[in-house]
Amino acid sequence: MSSLFQPFKLKDVQLRNRIAVPPMCQYSADNGFTNDWHQVHYPGMARGGAGLVIVEATAVSPEGRISPRCTGLWDDAHIEGMATIAASIKAAGAVAGIQIAHAGRKASANPPWLGDDHIAAQDPDGWQPIAPSPLAFGANLPRTPKEMTLADIERVKQDFVDAARRALAAGFEWLELHFAHGYLAQSFLSAHSNHRTDQYGGSFENRSRFLLETLAAVRAVWPDNLPLTARMGVIEYDGKDEETVAESITLTHLMRQGGLDLLNVSVNFVIPDGNIPWATPAFLAPVAQRIRQETGIAVACGWGIDDPLVAQRVIDQQQMDLVMIGRAHLANPHYTYAVAQTLGVKSPTGLLPTQYGHWLARYR
Ligand code: FNR
Repeated sequence: MSSLFQPFKLKDVQLRNRIAVPPMCQYSADNGFTNDWHQVHYPGMARGGAGLVIVEATAVSPEGRISPRCTGLWDDAHIEGMATIAASIKAAGAVAGIQIAHAGRKASANPPWLGDDHIAAQDPDGWQPIAPSPLAFGANLPRTPKEMTLADIERVKQDFVDAARRALAAGFEWLELHFAHGYLAQSFLSAHSNHRTDQYGGSFENRSRFLLETLAAVRAVWPDNLPLTARMGVIEYDGKDEETVAESITLTHLMRQGGLDLLNVSVNFVIPDGNIPWATPAFLAPVAQRIRQETGIAVACGWGIDDPLVAQRVIDQQQMDLVMIGRAHLANPHYTYAVAQTLGVKSPTGLLPTQYGHWLARYR
């Protein structure tokens, strides 16, 4: 049997295989509320056979949205729509996950197809982004954020806790904290974006504090028997990679001690001009493997691991426990089923709902 299609158990949750759909913003919500788009999109990919489907970066506060069209969990009223999505993912045999996020200095941007740039400061659709330090990302996101006060930091940590409670109430069984991609938490961790001189900046210990405190606060409300995970950039591709990876390994050890169950290994994206090796398939896999080996934590990883043979290889070689396959699932929501067919998995139609599988088992 293909290693990619072996079940994976984390805490009390079992995935039917090692393929996960990573969070992918749909920029289709209004005031944080999900709608028909999300209610069709998410179960569609779950019906295609993935073991885990993680709902997009969902803002813990209005100011934490990337764009005005991002989903939210800052209000109890958001729970109902999310509950429909979680239930339909589960009904299709996948585990329902959600990523909760604060976009920090990258907030208040236009959706990608409307420019992917900061909304003009005077435009009423936008808002003032906040961050550890008043330093702009640059490039398409030139707006200078407001430096967070200690009270702001406490409030945002509480926002993560409240959003986690709502995610649980909505029926999600897998929570991912967005500590990656240059958004708020990652910008605390990186010396590029954090120039604070208080207990949240300067030394590695201080730059890690926001992440560790947020993790601890969320762990206190997220049930022990359910996976609490984080997506974190562990490498910037800025020429200082050995130092960044070493710090990430130390932080992963600390997060594991603090109750983290799995790390979704990603890129920092704190600076706009990192030298990212996009052309190399599965370019992050060796980095993921190092984090996994040196910390002993379960690891997921993605970015260009969509070829079925490559996906199988990274699992066979124990470079990671889960493969995140994103855009290929946008192209074909049943991509996991297609991977199973390519790899010669026995009875791949078993991954599909009976309404499809019954016929396709007799088709080809
Ligand atoms: C993303 N990505 C992303 N990452 C994340 O952590 N939270 C998010 O909400 C999003 N949103 C998002 C939207 C869209 C449309 C895309 C294409 C990507 C990154 C995503 O999770 C994944 O890492 C990348 O797509 C790379 O994996 P693939 O597509 O090469 O398999």
